[in-house]
Amino acid sequence: MTITFKRVSYGLGAEVQGVDLRKPLADADVATIRQGWLEHNILLFRDQDITPEQHIAFSARFGKLDDHDKLYKYRHPEHAEIFIVTTRPKADGSPSDTRETGVNWHSDMSYTLKPATGSLLYCVEIPEVGGDTMFSNTYLAYDTLSEGMKKLIDPLWAVHSYAYAIHDTEKGRNPEVAKAHIDANPPVMQPMVRIHPETGRKALYVSEGATTQIVGMTPDESNGILQYLFRHSVIPEYTYRHPWRPRDLVMWDNRCTMHKALRDRLPGAIRHMHRTTILGEPCGKPLV
Ligand code: SIN
Repeated sequence: MTITFKRVSYGLGAEVQGVDLRKPLADADVATIRQGWLEHNILLFRDQDITPEQHIAFSARFGKLDDHDKLYKYRHPEHAEIFIVTTRPKADGSPSDTRETGVNWHSDMSYTLKPATGSLLYCVEIPEVGGDTMFSNTYLAYDTLSEGMKKLIDPLWAVHSYAYAIHDTEKGRNPEVAKAHIDANPPVMQPMVRIHPETGRKALYVSEGATTQIVGMTPDESNGILQYLFRHSVIPEYTYRHPWRPRDLVMWDNRCTMHKALRDRLPGAIRHMHRTTILGEPCGKPLV
């Protein structure tokens, strides 16, 4: 099997060719994919007609998978390793609880002490138009800061909060479920600049979706800096916008990217996605 990588944008991302994810992969092929992932930060696999079991088996080649026990209401009924992001209404006709999941820029599970290493999102159903996901390269975001800003934020920590992450999307959720998930995910502190454990490169690690406050600053000081960093980290040159096709699988590295599900869907449009989440190494600190 010859595996090749074709860039999809200036900022990040590559399409992987020469891989059939229905079949078990040789260790050497997994190593090639891992290398490409570290280089391109997000990988796109097109036309992969895979079952949930095959999705899980491929994902597990890159690390231990989350069973989503802290967001247990949203996982697949038969496969705890699959988190369902969907606009499909529930059986009783009420709106899906995850129809607004991930609509603000974020890095998965940054509100936990072991944020996700990577995530693999599989497209089951997508409307004719819309339902795109945007990705940004947070190495580039860090590298392009001034030396003065780097020096200021390099040693700093910031608060990441699940309650905040869902603050403007919570309305459509079941309040009891939202409360259970909030209680299971108390706020944590994360370094503002994260050193990627495999590449050694520095990446900016704050997001409009989850970061509430820089530790040791007044709210005014913190807001000014965070608002600037939020804007800077997603300027168009650092991003890739993915227009999904059914059977696409996109694998991203949460340690050096952020993403955002666009609200570019027509009313009633069905978008149904399955996500596996690779558990990460310890990164944050409890909020004291
Ligand atoms: C997520 O934030 O994990 C989901 C992103 C998407 O649905 O595009």
